[in-house]
Amino acid sequence: MSQSFDVLVIGGGPGGYIAAIRAAQLGFKVACAESNAYDDPKGEPRLGGTCLNVGCIPSKALLASSEEFEKISHHVADHGITVGSVKLDSGKMIARKDAIVTKMTAGIQFLFRKNKITLLKGHASFEGKGADGYQVKIDGKDKEVVTAKNVIIATGSKARHLPGIPVDNVLISDNEGGLKFDSIPKKLGVIGAGVIGLELGSVWRRVGSDVTILEALPTFLGACDQGIAKEAQKIFTKQGLKINMGVKIGEVKADKKGVVVNYTDSEGKAQKLECDRLIVSVGRVPNTEKLGLDKIGLKVDERGFIPIDDHTCATAAPGVYAVGDVVRGPMLAHKAEDEGVLVAETIAGQKPHIDYNCIPWVIYTDPEIAWVGKTEEQLKQAGIAYKAGQFPFAANGRALGMDRSDGFVKVLADEKTDEILGVHIIGPNASDLIAEAAVAMEFKAAAEDIARICHPHPSLSEVVREAALATDKRALNM
Ligand code: FAD
Ligand code: NAI
Repeated sequence: MSQSFDVLVIGGGPGGYIAAIRAAQLGFKVACAESNAYDDPKGEPRLGGTCLNVGCIPSKALLASSEEFEKISHHVADHGITVGSVKLDSGKMIARKDAIVTKMTAGIQFLFRKNKITLLKGHASFEGKGADGYQVKIDGKDKEVVTAKNVIIATGSKARHLPGIPVDNVLISDNEGGLKFDSIPKKLGVIGAGVIGLELGSVWRRVGSDVTILEALPTFLGACDQGIAKEAQKIFTKQGLKINMGVKIGEVKADKKGVVVNYTDSEGKAQKLECDRLIVSVGRVPNTEKLGLDKIGLKVDERGFIPIDDHTCATAAPGVYAVGDVVRGPMLAHKAEDEGVLVAETIAGQKPHIDYNCIPWVIYTDPEIAWVGKTEEQLKQAGIAYKAGQFPFAANGRALGMDRSDGFVKVLADEKTDEILGVHIIGPNASDLIAEAAVAMEFKAAAEDIARICHPHPSLSEVVREAALATDKRALNM
């Protein structure tokens, strides 16, 4: 007899595994299918998806290692600390990252056991629908067809590749190869000055690579508030990242000696970048191949995403939902997780809600960039009257003490009602500081609210408060 479940989740990434846990908490009989072994030594499918295996967690581990290296190499002398020659064992740095990934993925396996979630190891695809629910084939070591009343598709995304640029994850890499170089490339080329290009470009620059980034668009970080983007470009360039905007990539050749990227620059002149390794980070595409969507009457949209409704992530097939990178919206782990929770609670008859305007974004460069809500450009375009308040980390005692005084916080509030419309941060610990702004915006707080709330001293959070005060031209320490 085939196994049957109340809820089957396809994909064990942050959208899928969180949906499975929440559904189990709500009393459902739950299974989760995962097919990718990533780098598992036994070749067993691993939980955690892109995020834990080849995304958020490994990239942040390498960012932390490279930050330590840069700090000790260049920044501790001002503290009166003298160190001898500083060396980096890149193999050990990668092994540390791998150990963190293994620990985290094992942690999810533990959570599955704790919540009595069945892990189905193999590729899942729809076979059709019967009286007992959807029939889904699991194609792994053991082949089986399971039945589920509800199915949550959380199949995520994979790196987009460019035609004529074959990725082997050795010489030419996407995110997967860029997280496991076996040596530090002398010269590293990166195509795409987006989030991955900047984060991985920063990792390898800090540990000694000469990094050149080639970006097609003329505007740096177009989705960011442009005040923040301009400051970021200035700081990253000063750090040594060579960022070339408005290029057109031509022929790319790879041989034993390395990689040659032919391109035209923003003035239309032919250029050539010679490098030891190349990272291609030009966005990601949703995973829907061999999912059997047609067997249950579903189709993807023109960009390959699974269409869903705005509020419950329901597809056009009753009882089938889709969350995370495989649907519209930002490709962020916390967005995927929140959609996973929302769907599990919807299946249980609850009425959860996500305000997509309050989802924070972070780029883990140094300084970090984080924002929530609207940019100045979006407010201007929408014709919304707003006031802006800005405050620099250079005027904050804690930031100075930490030797981390680059950057600023910008608060945007409605001209009339004072409601916070957006908060933009470039500076130390921006990823943590933005959480206060996300909470404030979820509660429809006014800039005055943040300005009147007591913040700890000395702390970086005082910069957020001062920026809120600055919207009313009454910053206290400027
Ligand atoms: P995924 O994590 O992609 O998981 C989907 C899983 O489904 C995969 O394991 C896949 O193998 C499995 N699967 C697919 N099809 C099937 C099938 N038919 N049967 C069985 N299993 C299947 N986001 C952040 O918020 N913060 C960050 O700092 C961050 N850093 C990142 C760094 C990098 C280098 C990358 C590449 C991404 C990063 N992201 C970050 C984005 C984040 O990883 C994704 O938004 C997130 O993983 C999406 O979660 P998901 O569950 O939708 O999909
Ligand atoms: P991205 O969308 O952030 O950036 C891709 C960049 O490549 C863009 O600037 C684009 O204009 C450029 N590009 C596209 N085609 C090009 C071409 N032919 N030549 C030159 N440049 C070209 O995508 P990225 O960096 O690959 O990351 C994918 C996604 O993963 C992100 O959008 C984000 O959702 C997620 N992510 C999130 C992180 C975080 O939250 N900190 C970290 C890393 C990834």
